[in-house]
Amino acid sequence: MRKLAIIGASGYGKVVADIARRNGYKEIVFLDDDDSIHECGGYPVIGKSTESGMIDADVIIGIGNAGVRKQIQESIPDEKLVTLIHPDAVVAEDVVVGKGSVVMAGAVINPGVRIGKGCIINTCSSVDHDCEVGDYVHIAVGSHLCGTVSVGDGTWIGAGATVSNNVSICSACMIGAGAVVVKNIVEAGSYVGLPAKKIK
Ligand SMILES: CC(C)(COP(=O)(O)OP(=O)(O)OC[C@H]1O[C@@H](n2cnc3c(N)ncnc32)[C@H](O)[C@@H]1OP(=O)(O)O)[C@@H](O)C(=O)NCCC(=O)NCCS
Repeated sequence: MRKLAIIGASGYGKVVADIARRNGYKEIVFLDDDDSIHECGGYPVIGKSTESGMIDADVIIGIGNAGVRKQIQESIPDEKLVTLIHPDAVVAEDVVVGKGSVVMAGAVINPGVRIGKGCIINTCSSVDHDCEVGDYVHIAVGSHLCGTVSVGDGTWIGAGATVSNNVSICSACMIGAGAVVVKNIVEAGSYVGLPAKKIK
């Protein structure tokens, strides 16, 4: 199998490397702009984030910040980008997952779901039937989207949060850890608590 370059030698990048290895990548390298980092998860850092075009390798972004992830992903030709799904994630057959997205261990994605590009569907999260997840969304560890939820581009659903069925959340929102979203959110911002309310 081909080589994989992961941009971002972070904790998240380390998890991405583990998923890549389980998907059969034999050679994994990191690219990072911090000169002081030489390895990540046992794999070497061999250059800067801008150097992926010079390497004959598939590419994925291992950066948690959605804005930075988007900026870097959109500078990379689509044919170099891959999608990674942990072998212990459960993903229904008709689910569409966009380029540059990563689905982690224990995640469950049910039928009729569309996940955009550059998303993180994190460990043990779930996305129930017919959800529409935009681009560069992060569904954090242990959070749950009930059926027919829509999540706008760049929104982050915090760890352990729950979004009730049929609810829409607009772009650029931060849903706090443990929040329960029971009504549509139409204004960008941070929302916490049960029921989730805007904090600023
Ligand atoms: C919601 C969040 C983004 C707010 O961060 P912030 O803008 O820096 O806000 P602050 O920490 O200044 O908190 C502002 C207020 O909201 C409260 N608050 C913050 N997060 C909260 C949460 N998840 N649930 C309930 N209240 C919360 C704070 O206690 C504080 O209340 P106060 O004004 O009465 O003291 C952040 O706290 C959060 O939950 N992030 C998610 C982390 C996560 O899920 N990581 C997953 C990694 S996989």
